[in-house]
Amino acid sequence: VEHTYIMVKPDGVQRGLVGEIISRFEKKGFKLTGLKLFHCPKELAEEHYKELQSKPFFPKLINYITSGPVVCMAWEGVGVVASARKLIGATNPLQAEPGTIRGDLAVQTGRNVVHGSDSPENGKREIGLWFKEGEICEWTPVQEPWVVE
Ligand code: GTP
Ligand code: MG
Repeated sequence: VEHTYIMVKPDGVQRGLVGEIISRFEKKGFKLTGLKLFHCPKELAEEHYKELQSKPFFPKLINYITSGPVVCMAWEGVGVVASARKLIGATNPLQAEPGTIRGDLAVQTGRNVVHGSDSPENGKREIGLWFKEGEICEWTPVQEPWVVE
């Protein structure tokens, strides 16, 4: 089973969209295994986005992600990585389809309210980066047999 790291970015927290964003993953049928509000230090933001280090927008991106608290989440489920990316929508919210989180709730790439891991490997890497061991909770939702046959 796959794991992905989802994060409500500082704009999503400031705009009161935390519940709405969590709801979309809950309603889809994925399992929440980690959750916290966290003001991220610069070093962690740089490590998280290290693949984008050479991009011209990198300093702005680091400022954005460290500008206020974020909500860190680990989600588990069959195909959760690719499915979460679909639920989130395109990087540029103006190109994101209506019905997606960014398509419904945002207008600019630099304020696109939510992050989702882009591969199962990065899902693991990012959950390891943002959560300590005891912060991930293994549990069985009562609804599980009604979501997965
Ligand atoms: P994440 O889920 O946050 O990783 O977004 P993504 O996978 O859809 O896009 P990508 O990993 O390529 O970029 C990471 C983040 O950097 C984006 O979500 C944006 O917040 C930011 N970003 C990417 N491209 C631009 C850009 O051209 N300008 C600005 N200001 N920010 C950008
Ligand atoms: Mg990305």
